[in-house]
Amino acid sequence: MRTCPIQSCPRRPAGIPESLFSRREWIKHFAVGSALALTGGSFKSTLLAEIAPGTNPANILKFNLANYPVLQTDYGSMRFNLFGTAVANGIITLTRAPGSVYYAVSAWCTHEGCIVDPYDHSEGTQAMICYCHNSIYDIQGRIISEATPGQADLPTYNTSLSGNILSVEIPNLNFKVNNILPSAPVAGNPRFQISFSARKDARYRILYTPNLTATPAPVGFYSSASSQLVLNQITYNSTSTRTLWVQNTTGSGFYMVEMIVDAYNP
Ligand code: FES
Repeated sequence: MRTCPIQSCPRRPAGIPESLFSRREWIKHFAVGSALALTGGSFKSTLLAEIAPGTNPANILKFNLANYPVLQTDYGSMRFNLFGTAVANGIITLTRAPGSVYYAVSAWCTHEGCIVDPYDHSEGTQAMICYCHNSIYDIQGRIISEATPGQADLPTYNTSLSGNILSVEIPNLNFKVNNILPSAPVAGNPRFQISFSARKDARYRILYTPNLTATPAPVGFYSSASSQLVLNQITYNSTSTRTLWVQNTTGSGFYMVEMIVDAYNP
């Protein structure tokens, strides 16, 4: 149990062969795959999600709470890396409150941008603390002890819960798979180009699953139609529509673009 009084806490600084599937069927299958919302693997992130009322699906991150035991108990709290620590609001903190209420806030301190610790419910704390200059926020990210006069609350994000899936709306996340189209075969195997909206500083990779009940797994991909250099993840330095290529060697299945969101534990 944390015993450090808040006021004096010490500082502390994510084919089936061509003969069995026509090209039209290929496109149909892969296009469907691009719109699925799935999570899995060691990276707990999200894909383009189904439409939720009043929200833009391109801005929704989904977290499968089954993968995060800490978020299954009241006052559990953890941080996730969306865009890195150098980007304002690049780290978010998710905290569970009683009644299965989840709060999502930026971990970017509104004083000078240090990364705020997760929520700590220990007696004598019950707050989120930035140890750079001891700014203190409540469980909802409201400032309760300022490092500088007039300091703002932490930015907050809308959340909604459906079963074990926690949806967090991140403005300007800009994540949308536009299409998956066939490209010229390379070394006899079909290659597909996947077009999607990508945000600066986010990390992306491509998953593949042979069917809708299997857990999607990461696969190598290419940055051009003819490239032989296999990539495992990619980050862009600007927000724009991007295209990646995959080469199918296994038969039918589903490809998905995934934004990598892993736990932030410095
Ligand atoms: S940067 Fe957080 S208290 Fe100063």
